[in-house]
Amino acid sequence: MIVCHCAAVNDEAVRRAYDEGARTVSQVCRSTGAGQDCGSCIFTVKRVVCQHEALAPASPVEVEGAAS
Ligand code: FES
Repeated sequence: MIVCHCAAVNDEAVRRAYDEGARTVSQVCRSTGAGQDCGSCIFTVKRVVCQHEALAPASPVEVEGAAS
């Protein structure tokens, strides 16, 4: 499904950006190029990120200075 028509970004690219470390809509947009023109796709990007975040396994939290 095309999420951003201006930059031809699909939902898979949004999910991939999330999996590669983009954790906010802004980070996903910078990573994929979505939302950089007319901005009408922002809420769709947000919905895809939220849905993917809800299904993605929780990533371990790194604590600086913690003994391993
Ligand atoms: S549809 Fe995404 S910036 Fe226009």
